[in-house]
Amino acid sequence: MLVTSKELLLDAQKHGYAVGAFNTNDLEITHAIVRAAEAKKAPILVQISSGAMKYAGVEFLPMIVAKAARLASVPVAIHLDHGPDFATVMKALRAGFTSIMRDASKLPYEDNVAEVRKVVEACHALDVPVEAEIGRLGGAEEHVVVSEREASMSDPEECVRFVEDAGFDFLAVAIGNAHGFYKGEPKLDFDRLAAIRDKVSVPLVLHGASGIPDHQITKAVELGICKINIDTEIRNAFIRTIQKFVAENPDQIDPRKVFGPGIEAMQTVVEHKIEIFKSAGRA
Ligand code: G3H
Ligand code: ZN
Repeated sequence: MLVTSKELLLDAQKHGYAVGAFNTNDLEITHAIVRAAEAKKAPILVQISSGAMKYAGVEFLPMIVAKAARLASVPVAIHLDHGPDFATVMKALRAGFTSIMRDASKLPYEDNVAEVRKVVEACHALDVPVEAEIGRLGGAEEHVVVSEREASMSDPEECVRFVEDAGFDFLAVAIGNAHGFYKGEPKLDFDRLAAIRDKVSVPLVLHGASGIPDHQITKAVELGICKINIDTEIRNAFIRTIQKFVAENPDQIDPRKVFGPGIEAMQTVVEHKIEIFKSAGRA
């Protein structure tokens, strides 16, 4: 069933688990995500970036995801991932998204607040919740020195101010997480996460969770992370599986036969994440 992310994240916050937010670009990835959620009886967010909308069609992709959500036996929210501007948010609302991220984290603090407030006003008028981010994701590059790394992370005091000033519903934090695969083992700053959790009451979001070891994810969930974003590991499973299949079956030209194992591989990844996030059986 199609729901908003607010009910999902508030339940996660209350019961100490995290809802998986998985990126889709097409029909195949959407099937894999929703089948995994149904198999694990877990609530989920299926998220679409502006790049995915451009690739698959601003109207088409949300339509596919909305249909999948309505048919699903578990609660599914459709989330705009890293909304780059007000116009994209408006397009997403018109397309039926039930959850919005406005990412203005690269802007100076006051501009970030102003951009998020504008989106909050529009979204809340439609009962659609909003995620915002403060700090910059990074830390993947080995040459980043500690002081630079810390300077880019979310500051607990600023997080408090940001929530109050901008009035959004979920806060994405930068605690040593980064998009894409990590070079070496990532080290999340758990003291920083605990300090943010102590001061901020809205549900917290962890981006860049592909490649973070399971034990660190478990700890992040224990320390209050309620939404966890996964994209890269899904892509990796899909493409690597297809590459192997095509190498072993060079004469196969039926896309259904080629994509089938890729869909199964993605489903396996999503099911594992749902277990680690402790959202299995929460639907
Ligand atoms: O917003 C999307 C996620 O933060 C993706 O992170 O590259 O680690 O899968 P990932
Ligand atoms: Zn992200």
